[in-house]
Amino acid sequence: MSRPLIYAHRGASSYAPENTFASYKMAIEMEADGIEIDVHKSKDGHLVVCHDEKVDRTTNGKGYIKDLTVEELKLLDAGSWFNESFANERIPLLEEVLELVKMENILLNIELKNGPIFYEDLELDVVNAIRAYRLEEKVIISSFNHYSLVAVKKLESKIKTGILYIAGMVSPWKYAKSIGSDAIHPLFMTINDEVVKECIQNDVMVNPFTVDRESDMILMKNIGVSSIITNRPDAGRKVFYGI
Ligand code: G3P
Ligand code: CA
Repeated sequence: MSRPLIYAHRGASSYAPENTFASYKMAIEMEADGIEIDVHKSKDGHLVVCHDEKVDRTTNGKGYIKDLTVEELKLLDAGSWFNESFANERIPLLEEVLELVKMENILLNIELKNGPIFYEDLELDVVNAIRAYRLEEKVIISSFNHYSLVAVKKLESKIKTGILYIAGMVSPWKYAKSIGSDAIHPLFMTINDEVVKECIQNDVMVNPFTVDRESDMILMKNIGVSSIITNRPDAGRKVFYGI
């Protein structure tokens, strides 16, 4: 049986501040196959990588990303909230992450945070950024906003999309096919071997989140998922590689 791929959720975010270069570099050192990131848009239209729509929780700043310019965002300390030793970390831009992904030849899962705050042309700008780095084959775009996934596919059929959801769904593979998606990204405890089997048989990948416990990683491997999204890529490596 082949092993699931390992995507480091916001980087190796159990060990370093989420969505920073420190957490991405740690994930790469831990030999994750890819990283998962979250994207918003700044006041001046730049693609900004941060989980929340506000900077309050993960920086020393305050306010919505949509109300701040890149210059203002780049002044913020995005690491001290986690540990003083990460005080130099800054909020990354999508283009900086794409550069890293290209250089390190890893996979990238971009989550479009399009709602409850909606960003004009978010899908178009993200697709264009991926095209600029010729990373269409290395990226999968996911979102809880499934209209965004349909929009991405219309713009660029080569870029894979994954449906994020948190509740049980009947025949998710049928829904994925109906909106042209390549994968489901379910909350891991909502799936079982039947769901996974039907998806894989119908060429729909299954990439559950957020799988951090080793026992859950083993369970996910045994039911045949395509990838796991985890805050602990080192644990994934131990479970799947035995090292
Ligand atoms: O992509 C899986 C996961 O990141 C979705 O939830 O809230 O961690 O962005 P959240
Ligand atoms: Ca996410």
